Amino acid sequence: GDTAGGNPRTAGPGAPRADRRSQAWFGASGRAGMIHRSWMRNQGYGDEVFDGRPVIGIATTWSQLAPCNAHLDEVAEAVKRGVWQAGGFPLEFPVLSTGETIIRPTAMLFRNLMAMDAEELIRNNPLDGVVLLSGCDKTTPGLLMGAASVDLPTIMVTGGPMLNGKFRGQDVGSGTHVWKFEAEMAAGRMSECEARAAEGCMARSKGHCMTMGTASTMACMVEALGMQLPGGGAYPAVDARRMELAQESGRRIVDLVDKDIRPSDILTREAFENAIRTNAAIGGSTNAFVHLMALAGRLEGVELDLDLFDALGRDVPTLVNLMPSGKYLMEDFCYAGGLPVVLRRLVEAGVMHADSLTVTGRSIGENVAGAECFDDDVIRTWAAPYQPAGSGTAVLRGNLCPDGAVLKQSAASPELLVHEGRARVFDSPEAYHAVSDDPDLDITADDIIVVRGAGPKGYPGMPEVANVALPTKLLKQGVSDMVRISDGRMSGTGYGTVVLHVSPEAAVGGPLALVRDGDRIRLDVPARELSLLVDDAELERRRARTDAGPVPAAAQSPGGYAWLYRQHVQQAHLGADFDFLTGTRGHAVPRDSH
Ligand code: FES
Ligand code: MG
Repeated sequence: GDTAGGNPRTAGPGAPRADRRSQAWFGASGRAGMIHRSWMRNQGYGDEVFDGRPVIGIATTWSQLAPCNAHLDEVAEAVKRGVWQAGGFPLEFPVLSTGETIIRPTAMLFRNLMAMDAEELIRNNPLDGVVLLSGCDKTTPGLLMGAASVDLPTIMVTGGPMLNGKFRGQDVGSGTHVWKFEAEMAAGRMSECEARAAEGCMARSKGHCMTMGTASTMACMVEALGMQLPGGGAYPAVDARRMELAQESGRRIVDLVDKDIRPSDILTREAFENAIRTNAAIGGSTNAFVHLMALAGRLEGVELDLDLFDALGRDVPTLVNLMPSGKYLMEDFCYAGGLPVVLRRLVEAGVMHADSLTVTGRSIGENVAGAECFDDDVIRTWAAPYQPAGSGTAVLRGNLCPDGAVLKQSAASPELLVHEGRARVFDSPEAYHAVSDDPDLDITADDIIVVRGAGPKGYPGMPEVANVALPTKLLKQGVSDMVRISDGRMSGTGYGTVVLHVSPEAAVGGPLALVRDGDRIRLDVPARELSLLVDDAELERRRARTDAGPVPAAAQSPGGYAWLYRQHVQQAHLGADFDFLTGTRGHAVPRDSH
């Protein structure tokens, strides 16, 4: 194959062409062309790389502060090999990267900033196509949202999950076991010392969370949408097959540029419907709802609403038996055949748009036609699913959430799915944590814990705080679940009977702001209802008395990015994107710089 810079192909997808977008920079004559080319040559490239071959950007979210993405520099090298092989010219560049476990107040606060960063860098540089390298939760939707708004040929390569966590002979899942260990420690069944040992054993290789948390879910969503090569969702980060796939992605992007296949050709309404069905089948994260809504908002002509998620999910059983809902982890999922098996089963059940185009240049149905399952306990069949149709994530409505809320049934306790209880209300997660260890706390297992002030504007950034640990005194009594309600999110690795994404949020005057201690709340998931059992007249009286703002917003942002965020973020049911970022702004060549 070709090596760096040598022997450009004279035929095939990488052949030089004068009409490439990148030639507006590198093919320019006079002073402008000299400026664009000369400084690039300080990296040791010969003049031949400017001959009109496709220039491929590799947008990487590599960062040591995003541990799930800390190996993406290696993935980038594999992609570059593929780009050179196909006759392209690869150029890697960094995009803002956020690590779910590290950055405060929440990585979600920066997803839209990441999308802006990616969008501007892709559009305003001499690129003909782009490969997106992601891993941790927000990096996947962030990059895709930005790339969709530019609409140049794009392919994504996710970094892959960590190997299964192993502690004392047992599989432990990243995230999921954090909540379990926390409860064990609170109940006095696990020592601090044991927990420290478990921490290391839970994260024993490079890669992202190996549960079916948000990162794995989004990696599968990208594959189901057709934006990542088949199998790309599940190969462990350390598996050499992932590097092979990354290299193949480098070759594919050159072909996508040649054929001018763009995100708008792939990310159609049908592709989103496929992804929504797939999310139900994998028992995926509730966060996918928010991210898919935001991504759809970037595409002209794709209108989704929350009820569609409920409607499409209802007749899809959960096939994948992975934590947090099930037993296994991503390594097992990979060895069982990975997402292509799930997609094949969905196609065969007749619930997919099998002819949707993907980055392979073929349809999703063609991609997965030969997918074989090697473990029917990890990936169950349609006839004998892990959980029956209708038990996935439900979209709730009612006077407490007029614009919707979601609840992941497969991660909840069946006996709590229909439940009426007394509200115990907290204006922030901190307010709850301040009293949750109190042995005299006035709370019972039948109560409903309301944690508000955790929405997009209220926190700000809609953090993953909704599944607060149960009150210590109840944990010690052996209580393992309670109904919790919040305008915030929950980690995709989390579990419990938790109503999430209540919209509108309390901080913008949603009804959640009007709940008081002792009110009765009724949750009826089969009926898709969440109701505050307080009459309208009383709610109006309460609203009138709180005209200055129902819940004091957390510290007002004096300026900077958080200020911008609060001005422009939309509510959860719209995907929490900025109002000024929806839609596609294209990839016209910008005005010259000199
Ligand atoms: Fe990065 Fe879970 S924390 S993927
Ligand atoms: Mg749209």
